[in-house]
Amino acid sequence: MHLPNKQQAHTYLTEAALINPGLWVPHCEYAAQAAYTIASKIDGLDPDAAYVMGLLHDIGRRVGIIDLSHCYTGYQFMLDEGYPQIARICITHSFINKDTRGAEKNWDSDLKDLETMRSFLTTIEYDDYDRLIQLCDAISVSSGYWLIEKRLLDVGIRRGVSDSSPDRWQAILDLKNTFDEQLGYSVYQLLPGVIENTFGFSPNGKDFINGRN
Ligand SMILES: [Fe+2]
Repeated sequence: MHLPNKQQAHTYLTEAALINPGLWVPHCEYAAQAAYTIASKIDGLDPDAAYVMGLLHDIGRRVGIIDLSHCYTGYQFMLDEGYPQIARICITHSFINKDTRGAEKNWDSDLKDLETMRSFLTTIEYDDYDRLIQLCDAISVSSGYWLIEKRLLDVGIRRGVSDSSPDRWQAILDLKNTFDEQLGYSVYQLLPGVIENTFGFSPNGKDFINGRN
């Protein structure tokens, strides 16, 4: 795989954060850390590659505050930079099981870009990296890690739901179970602070913690 190294990946994210600062930046940093940690426990996955993919999966947000079309802007940017594997992750992280039903609702650029993306998805088979970053995206917020069910509800409230949402939620829960089975224990056991973040606990029992993407 031809990927940027960790330092190059951080440079991309830092530059993007100067153009479009926001909670999406720490979300990517947490997703990267989760990807590294989970990948380091699973045979056949390269933790450094997983880290870089996690860090750059939302790099399309560098262009400004946009919704689902960040998949396409990230895809194009990473292709132009010569990193097709990262470009691929920019798309696949948002389309669990390649389900693009309802995508028009949140698609905020030219519809022909959406069709290009759909065509791309028909040409690939998802691999373990695609699935890992989908999982890490689903558990990472700007303050750390959340129970997936809470994250799905948060995204649903902010971005709306469609007839296809229940199928997508089930697919994400199935994905988490698949990783649990591969690990032999819960993914959550690898994520520091998931209980505190999900339920707003704090180490001293006084400060309320809240975070969202
Ligand atoms: Fe993300």
